[in-house]
Amino acid sequence: MARRRTDKFRWHRKHLLGLRDLSRQEIEHILDTAHGFEQISTRSIKKAPALRGKVVVNMFFEDSTRTRNSFTLAANRLSADVIEFTKKSSSVSKGETLIDTARNLEAMGIDIVVIRHNAGGAAKLLSRTINACVVNAGDGFNEHPTQALLDAYTIRRVRGSLEGLKVGIVGDIAHSRVARSNVWALTKLGAEVVLIGPPTLMPGKVEQLPVRVSYSLDDVIEELDVINMLRIQFERLGGNPFPSVREYSHFFGLTVDRMKRAKENITVMHPGPINRGLEIESEVADGPNSVILQQVANGLAVRMAVLFLVHQAAIEEQRGKV
Ligand code: CP
Repeated sequence: MARRRTDKFRWHRKHLLGLRDLSRQEIEHILDTAHGFEQISTRSIKKAPALRGKVVVNMFFEDSTRTRNSFTLAANRLSADVIEFTKKSSSVSKGETLIDTARNLEAMGIDIVVIRHNAGGAAKLLSRTINACVVNAGDGFNEHPTQALLDAYTIRRVRGSLEGLKVGIVGDIAHSRVARSNVWALTKLGAEVVLIGPPTLMPGKVEQLPVRVSYSLDDVIEELDVINMLRIQFERLGGNPFPSVREYSHFFGLTVDRMKRAKENITVMHPGPINRGLEIESEVADGPNSVILQQVANGLAVRMAVLFLVHQAAIEEQRGKV
C-alpha cells in the first residue's frame, strides 16, 4: 500500500477523545502516521526515541487484553516510561475519585493518560481537569476511537481504500462504543455502513446516524464487502434483548453456512474478545477471510501514531505559550 501524503497537514489535538468531531483529513493523517510507524516493529531493535523521557499512564477502570497491552507496547516502542494503573489494585477501592486519582498521578509528572472507563464522557472530563494529554481507550457506550482507527487501517490495508465499500456492523450495536466510533470513522472515509441486529440491540435515535439499518443479516449479507461482528456484551445487557443465545446465533451469527452466501472476498472482522460459536463460528473466525489478528497487529502502529501525535500537539501548545 502506498503511503498517502498529508505532509502539509498540521495535527493540533492534544487529546483523542472520539472520532465524531474529527475530519476525514485528521483521520487519514493518523492512519498515514501509523503506516510510518509500522516498520519500527520489523527492526531488530524495535524502538524509536519519540517519547524518550516522557511518562504514559494506562488508567484502566475496566478489563482489557488488546487495548491495554498494545498501548503499553506502543509507549515502550516510543521509549516512554509507562505506569500501569488498575482500578482493582488502586485506592479507588477506598473511595478515591477519578479526578483525584488523575491529579495525584499528574503530581508525579506524567505526559499522557490513556483511560478506559465504564462511564461515557470520562475521558472528556479528564481532559478538562488535567494538563496531560488524554487518549480515550473506551468510555462506556460512547466511543473507542483507537479500535475504529485500527479497523479503518486494517480495511485500508486489505482493500486499498474505504471509498465505496459496504461495511456491515453486526450485533449488539446499542452497547457498543466500537460500533459508534466505527460509524464515524468509516463513513468519513467514504464507506457505506449498515448496522445489523435485532431491534432490541439497536441504539435509540439510530435514524440520526449516517447509516442504513437492517434487522436481518440474511437480507444484506450478499451486498457486504466487509463484515464486522460485535461481541454480545453480556456484562452490559439489562433484561432479555433476545429470547435465547441459540436464537441470536441462528439469526445473527456468522456461520460457515451463511458465509456461502457472502461475497467470496468478504473481509471478516471482530474487535475481540470473541464469543466463539455465538456471534461467529470458529471456522469463520480462523478462516481465510478473517483479518481478526491483523486488526490486533495493526493496533500497535495506530496507537504509536496516536501517542506520538497527541504529544506533538502538546509540544506545539507549550511553544505557543512561551
Ligand atoms: N477490542 C478491545 O477493546 O479489546 P480489549 O477489551 O481486550 O481491550
